Amino acid sequence: MKYVIILVLSLIIISSCDQKNKNSETSHGKWKSLSGDKRIEQRVDSVLKLMTLEEKIGQMTQFSANWSITGPVMSDDFKPYLYKGLIGSIFNATSVEGIRKLQQIAVDSTRLGIPILFGQDVIHGYKTIFPIPLGEACSWDLAMMEQTARIAAIEAASDGINWTFAPMVDISRDARWGRVMEGAGEDPYLGSRIAEARVKGFQGEGGWQSLSDVATLLACGKHFAAYGAAESGRDYNTAELSEHTLRNVYLPPYQAALEAGVGTFMASFNEVNGVPATASRWLLTDILRNEWGFRGFVVSDYTGINELVPHGVAKDEKQAAELAVNAGVDMDMTGATYIKYLSELVKEGKVSEKTIDNATRSILEMKFLLGLFDDPYRYLDENRAKANTEKPEFIETARKAVASSLVLLKNDNDLLPIKKDRAARIALIGPLMNDSVNLNGEWAGLGDRNKSVSILKGMTEAYKGTNVKLNYAQGCTITESSPASIAQAVSAARLSDVVLVAVGEDFNWSGEAACRSDIRLPEAQRQLLNALKETGKPIALIVLSGRPLDLSWEDSQFDAILQAWFPGREGGHGIADVISGEYNPSGRLVMSFPRNVGQIPIYYNHKNTGRPVDPAHPDVDYKSSFLDVSTTPLYPFGYGLSYTTYAISNAKIDKSTMKSKNDKITVSATVENTGPMDGEMVVQLYVRDLVGSVTRPVKELKGFRKVALKAGESKPITFELSSEDLAFYGIDMKKKTEPGEFKVWVAQHSADNSNELSFSVTE
Ligand code: NOJ
Repeated sequence: MKYVIILVLSLIIISSCDQKNKNSETSHGKWKSLSGDKRIEQRVDSVLKLMTLEEKIGQMTQFSANWSITGPVMSDDFKPYLYKGLIGSIFNATSVEGIRKLQQIAVDSTRLGIPILFGQDVIHGYKTIFPIPLGEACSWDLAMMEQTARIAAIEAASDGINWTFAPMVDISRDARWGRVMEGAGEDPYLGSRIAEARVKGFQGEGGWQSLSDVATLLACGKHFAAYGAAESGRDYNTAELSEHTLRNVYLPPYQAALEAGVGTFMASFNEVNGVPATASRWLLTDILRNEWGFRGFVVSDYTGINELVPHGVAKDEKQAAELAVNAGVDMDMTGATYIKYLSELVKEGKVSEKTIDNATRSILEMKFLLGLFDDPYRYLDENRAKANTEKPEFIETARKAVASSLVLLKNDNDLLPIKKDRAARIALIGPLMNDSVNLNGEWAGLGDRNKSVSILKGMTEAYKGTNVKLNYAQGCTITESSPASIAQAVSAARLSDVVLVAVGEDFNWSGEAACRSDIRLPEAQRQLLNALKETGKPIALIVLSGRPLDLSWEDSQFDAILQAWFPGREGGHGIADVISGEYNPSGRLVMSFPRNVGQIPIYYNHKNTGRPVDPAHPDVDYKSSFLDVSTTPLYPFGYGLSYTTYAISNAKIDKSTMKSKNDKITVSATVENTGPMDGEMVVQLYVRDLVGSVTRPVKELKGFRKVALKAGESKPITFELSSEDLAFYGIDMKKKTEPGEFKVWVAQHSADNSNELSFSVTE
């Protein structure tokens, strides 16, 4: 087999030890490996030496597989490249058998037999689908998020995949943007911690060394950069933002992913301040490689290079390829611009061969780290695939993930939970009550939508054998209602003591290219809700959506609201666990919920302005406010109720000043479960830097703890706040901590000002 020849050759060449290669310069400077391991670097160089320019460019080329009944195939356009060894990576090829066929071609039918890297969008599960990432983020449970990413990696890697295009770590302040479902919300600190957890989950804990574990996947931090800052929340749209906002708000989660060891990044589709990210040497080389020290490789997004033409920075695809490769895009996803034009560009002197070498080395290194050069078939084992798919413990974790991602937004008169030992009649109504297909949400891998547990099924199982009687009527579909369907739902409601209505969005109303300018519930659902309201029965809404919706009307009309996102395969079970009180809801919002779409962008860490409005006195003239709506969100970042109540007291700081470098303070408090039920509280630490060389946010999250508390229990908690935690990019665009006065809050959510302390930072 060819790869054996390569292996042997690479080992022979190592022994003649090619010192010169180590000094090879490229347009991005000297190539630095991800591993920093000399042996691996030598093996990479030994393969590189055997390659023609065209073969190197082939490694920088990725295509998507198409499907036939027998599995993945390359379309006829790309097949010749595959046979010539001119493809470095294929994505969307699934199943061990299908991937083996493609790998065999690369290994046996090409000159050098270099194995292919198989990618896939494994976003929130592969076959066992977890809640959408935005929902999971609301758990504030980093260990759990690491665990679900690990399970996704185990399932996908057992099915032949080596590389996931995740985690998506784009900050977003705009609920109209359909891709908020894939991220971790609006906050750079929380977003960074979640980025780290997900990278470790996919790639393993051991840095580059765990890539060789067949139960891990190479991860990809995306979309670099500021894809979530799309104007008006319209996908692919322009991002126009100051460098301060870029660096202080949008960039931190990408950097956190990098520091957690992420092996690849994806360049984003959007422009940032006039330069499409895919052509931005400033983003991809100056910041990512030179400033932050990234040593992996960068892939474009899907035809992102070709799109430099409609962006208007390249006159044709050839120039687009030139701009992208010189900016620092190492691999072209599906656009075929590299394979078509790079060798010509090298011959014309517009792209240096050293740039090509540099990119190729990084891609080859990844193949070495994944063990593909040692055994290109090591991820391809039908028995492992079978054994590692939808295991009972994966499904159990999914159920827990659902329960902990739900956010109880309103619960008047303790309408929820409906305990199993009660005698009660519950009407189960709504378009999403008996629905499986929508539950997985978008980007749901290979999850079988028909396997997802509907809320109706989950509730039926939960209350089986109890004195709680359930009565189902759909009422309307997501977008259509009729007088008859509404009448049926109303009579079910009339026969009940409590009404639960599952409302929300279709799953493909969020995700890529799925933006909405009206984020209220569709008219048909509001008609149904109005009719149900007339019955006078207590009503709880279960909201399924891929974004924060405008729930102002619902909040004003109904007794309880449980935000359930798209919960994935175990949706009905996890939701029933919360409705029945088997699990006490602990989720907290990671995006502010607007009162109406006109408030967007709305986020807790906004600036004060020169004319801040006091929300308690909003009608004072000439303040930064609206005439027709408050400036506050309907539900703030960090907010979520529980079936119990919590209190924070005794907030203290160990000292009132700290130095601006290498110093720290300790903030402590007592947290108490003051209600009747065991639960978990998310204690949040916020600061405000009162005066800066540039304006500072009114609040910034700097720490959090999810604490389990039995009914009546209290616990001391402490947060360490270091001077480095307070650093930001100031007027000179350098990151540092500026001396001055600070406020700090130990809080239950971002609008909770009750435990306020202060301290100062000195030189
Ligand atoms: C386009 C999306 O923007 C990106 O997130 C995804 O990874 C690629 N398509 C591949 O499916």
